[in-house]
Amino acid sequence: MASMDAEDSISRMDDHDSAFAPTTDDKFTFGLWTVGNRGRDPFGDAVRPPVEPTGLVRLLAECGAYGVNLHDDDLVPFGSSVSERDRIVRDFRAALEDHGLCVPMATTNLFFHPIFKDGAFTSNDPAVRAFALQKTMRAIDLGAELGAKIYVFWGGREGTECDACRDPRDAIRRFRDAIDFLCGYVVEQGYGMRFALEAKPNEPRGDIYLPTTGHLLHFIETLAMPEMVGVNPEVAHETMAGLSFPHAVAQALEADKLFHIDLNSQKVGRYDQDFRFASEDPKQAFLLVRLLEGTARAEFGSYPRYDGPKHFDAHAYRSEDEAGVRDFARGCMRSYKILAARAEAFDADPEVLDLLAANRGDAVDPHDGAGWSTSRAEGLRDLAIDVDQVARRGLQWERLDQLLFEHLTGVRG
Ligand code: GCO
Ligand code: MN
Ligand code: MN
Repeated sequence: MASMDAEDSISRMDDHDSAFAPTTDDKFTFGLWTVGNRGRDPFGDAVRPPVEPTGLVRLLAECGAYGVNLHDDDLVPFGSSVSERDRIVRDFRAALEDHGLCVPMATTNLFFHPIFKDGAFTSNDPAVRAFALQKTMRAIDLGAELGAKIYVFWGGREGTECDACRDPRDAIRRFRDAIDFLCGYVVEQGYGMRFALEAKPNEPRGDIYLPTTGHLLHFIETLAMPEMVGVNPEVAHETMAGLSFPHAVAQALEADKLFHIDLNSQKVGRYDQDFRFASEDPKQAFLLVRLLEGTARAEFGSYPRYDGPKHFDAHAYRSEDEAGVRDFARGCMRSYKILAARAEAFDADPEVLDLLAANRGDAVDPHDGAGWSTSRAEGLRDLAIDVDQVARRGLQWERLDQLLFEHLTGVRG
């Protein structure tokens, strides 16, 4: 009897595991710099040996990822000769083909070399700005060669400590000039790429320009080709600013600007932790996955599921060896899929649906949501609303939030 129980529980675990196994439909991706992270921090040296890009491709394929992203220098070390570059790219492409991985996104390292110590596109020095454009054009060519359709811009060094060094309006203008120029470049080359801008409030600079996804969404509307440009919000970055990540993502989705997403985990008020997805913030992660997967019923129908790549811009704890890096990568994808299943169950729970339906209030304004008209204004002026009765109503969001917790923890559904 006891042994049958054990067998049962083993087979249940297998079912469970296969339900959460990553598939290509999930479009889970990692950067070379994420699984290749060697655990260096400002206080200590590398704890893991370097792994060649081709080795990282193999590791990701074994863990079940769909794609791999890169900065130019992650693949082709800065200063490589043309023949070295070509050999590295050839070997990398062969590894991608052998392991069935693609490169959905590419980006430029505009932060490591000392020339970028005071920014790249926003630097006061025209030579730095020209070098940043030149390096990005080459990196875009590399991305195009590898098939990337999304090109990310993270302005990590575009900021200040000594803020008197430039008018922040000049920084914004220079950043716009760079993005406009590079949009022109991509169009002329016929690469069919779209740009995704990534905000971060600080680190490595004291303050970084365009610090949140909201700032970027406005900035995009001031560009020459706004339709080519969207955002790449990151969990850690919005959380560092003390903001709701699901709200930032919802605004991007609503504006049709969620071109890419960086998933990881972060405590409010800390350095950029880039932890394994959902490790620190399961409730926020649940709300995020619910939003991306479109399981929530919208008031008048439903919103579509986010269909772009889901990139884990995170890395393993410094305590880990290569096996720990695999645990980290598998954990990111598995947690996402667990949360997707939990969100599905939450949004199908009749009690949740009843609570949401019961607390929409009474329909009193026949043109609710229809915008302004003279007749509507007249109708609203004379509408009798029992203010005290409406104000007295308890909404039961305590109950709803408790149900969320019970689904999240697997106690229910
Ligand atoms: C960070 C950023 C980076 C970028 C990457 C791609 O805080 O370090 O999130 O990891 O996402 O450079 O542009
Ligand atoms: Mn980050
Ligand atoms: Mn990122």
